[in-house]
Amino acid sequence: TKLNGGGGGRSGSIVAPLVVNEDFQRIDVNPPKGTRDFPPEDMRLRNWLFNHFKEVSRLFGYEEVDFPVLETEALFIRKAGEEIRDQLYCFEDRGNRRVALRPELTPSLARLVIQKGKSVSLPLKWFAVGQCWRYERMTRGRRREHYQWNMDIIGVPQVTAEAELISSIVTFFKRIGITASDVGFKVSSRKVLQEMLRKYGVPENLFGRVCVIIDKIEKIPVDELKKELGSTGISEDAIEQLLLVLSVKSLDDLEEILGGAGEAIADLKQLFSLAEKFGYSEWIQFDASVVRGLAYYTGIVFEGFDRKGKLRAICGGGRYDRLLSTYGGDDIPACGFGFGDAVIVELLKEKDLLPELGQEIENIVCALDKDLQGAAATVATALRSKGQTVDLVLEYKPLKWVFKRADRVNARRLVLVGKKEWEDGSVSVKVLSSGEQFQVKLNDLE
Ligand code: HAM
Repeated sequence: TKLNGGGGGRSGSIVAPLVVNEDFQRIDVNPPKGTRDFPPEDMRLRNWLFNHFKEVSRLFGYEEVDFPVLETEALFIRKAGEEIRDQLYCFEDRGNRRVALRPELTPSLARLVIQKGKSVSLPLKWFAVGQCWRYERMTRGRRREHYQWNMDIIGVPQVTAEAELISSIVTFFKRIGITASDVGFKVSSRKVLQEMLRKYGVPENLFGRVCVIIDKIEKIPVDELKKELGSTGISEDAIEQLLLVLSVKSLDDLEEILGGAGEAIADLKQLFSLAEKFGYSEWIQFDASVVRGLAYYTGIVFEGFDRKGKLRAICGGGRYDRLLSTYGGDDIPACGFGFGDAVIVELLKEKDLLPELGQEIENIVCALDKDLQGAAATVATALRSKGQTVDLVLEYKPLKWVFKRADRVNARRLVLVGKKEWEDGSVSVKVLSSGEQFQVKLNDLE
């Protein structure tokens, strides 16, 4: 019988059990479909990305928040027929409560804002980086688990808020080497649709549902789209006019259709004017077909896209002034965005912009004699107390092995604890880049 399951190769590193394990069950070593492991090399990339998310958020003066990954299912149930609801990972817990893994962070944020009530002073500028779960059909950049960077502003009704949010995403792109010729933002306002629906006497309560249907404009055939819109009770004439407006790609044309007076035009004009002041005009363009698939948006909506058109939306967001009241809270103006960790990595790969990230260790500490392993531990502790990273060699190994390891972990120095030096309270230090070697007293280690 093969006791250790044919673990192979690394003699001495796997201990064979003395008895056959009764619980033996060969498992699939892959994580569940659509989810990921993060071995060190992937974790380094993830940390690199998240550090940029967090640094940009801090640059803009936002505070970090987080929420549980597991929430009450009801938090995510909206009646508008959103795709996100069909993708919910939900179940009953052992206490018979309906719960769900969060598919997005915005409902939790709204819940927390309501909970905090008047104890917080507005505006709130909050950011979060958290894992979200959606049972998606898997495509490039779409998985069943992803991390989302969110920045949200609660309590500012003016378009200055949306303008600043887009500025923070642009700042992020620039930091990681993405330019306005790689990526752009399509911007519109749901008030465009609202004004159209009002004009045709469509009841306000259908607004969210209509937006969710219209969001499918590029995903389903136009006849199907018309049929779905028709099923809400909107007249054929109104549907034709809606589709016409959605094809508009310039603010001037929109103004011609809607007339100059409405809020939609005013908001969008202000946004474009602010974009100039923030310095990111070349990144944004008006596109009436951007509606977004979540029911709660009420005003400006935007999506980041790759200009080659190969990938799905990189990020997206908008204004959601009425979300809080759907949970029984008082409405507070709010807007924000979500930025996933998957599409951006695909784009960085395409552009050959992925950073090279190796492990970085300052010192490898190694005993040259079996009896000196305790001394090596003392040296490691002294260095770590000075804030230096130390990879301590925990087994007695030949020098050749230690050099190989130093190379693998990108160590800067090799600290050797030898008998003669140690008797003198010293260790020998080798700087690996130059080969320079010297002796240092334990007390002088820095
Ligand atoms: P969303 O458009 O559903 O918006 O998602 C935002 C971003 O999350 C997407 O643009 C994409 O980068 C990423 N994302 C979404 N689903 C997946 C997936 N299955 N796999 C990989 N990445 C994905 C929201 O979630 C809103 N809550 C954003 C928001 C915040 N609006 C206001 N504040």
